[in-house]
Amino acid sequence: MVPKLLARFRKKPRELASGLLAENLPAHLAIIMDGNGRWANRRGLPRFAGHHAGMKRLRQVIRDCDELGIRCLTLYAFSTENWKRPADEVEYLMRLPAEFFATEIDELVDRGVRVRFIGDTAKLPPHTQEIVAKTLERTRNSQGMIVNFALNYGGRAEIIAAAKSFALEVAAGRASAEDLSEERFSELLSTCHLPDPDLVIRTSGELRMSNFLIWQAAYAELWFTDVLWPDFTRDVLIQALRDFQGRKRRFGGLK
Ligand code: FPP
Repeated sequence: MVPKLLARFRKKPRELASGLLAENLPAHLAIIMDGNGRWANRRGLPRFAGHHAGMKRLRQVIRDCDELGIRCLTLYAFSTENWKRPADEVEYLMRLPAEFFATEIDELVDRGVRVRFIGDTAKLPPHTQEIVAKTLERTRNSQGMIVNFALNYGGRAEIIAAAKSFALEVAAGRASAEDLSEERFSELLSTCHLPDPDLVIRTSGELRMSNFLIWQAAYAELWFTDVLWPDFTRDVLIQALRDFQGRKRRFGGLK
């Protein structure tokens, strides 16, 4: 009788101040931060101002996620397609990580945040690569939330790179085609150290994935909002998490 009672006690979900259930938070939240340009346009400001406001918003969102208990956060900061933008905008976006980490790195380290990067960072300008390397080094031993920046990231490019690396293993006689499984393939992706995202949020009213985590998000819940990224507040984040907690995830099964 007693163990049964205890089991029931243990199962009682812990409610956070936000009304969210601690046990049912997404282990991995991924965000497509969209709408910086429109945010600036609506204010008669240059697009750069929107990206700067987006960067400032990012600071707060990382804090909010950490305080709410999200264990892994992936942020789509620059896609393989974003190189098509005007050179001065690309240049500005490439300088944002340096500005961001110059002011944030101490707080991130204090919080125990492990910063990671996915995407082809070797093709970033040298000054951006430098800040990537420095940030990885500073947070190498952190044990807390993972904040994963997708920089020069594209889901298709990532899948092709994984396929090539497996083909090379086969060609070298270290693997055979039969060895390839979903698990093995996932291990070849840049996200191999992370769980699949449970929830993908996209701001600004666009309803598409834009080549973001297209393998990993196969069973992610999707949440869209018209709110532009620089206006994305803690309340909007909580709204998304509440909605997530109300979803029935069946992963193709019946319950
Ligand atoms: C999409 O909005 C946003 C981006 C391409 C850049 C996102 C970057 C940040 C929020 C800051 C990143 C900070 C660091 C530290 C890397 P958009 O420009 O496509 O907006 P629009 O659709 O309204 O034009």
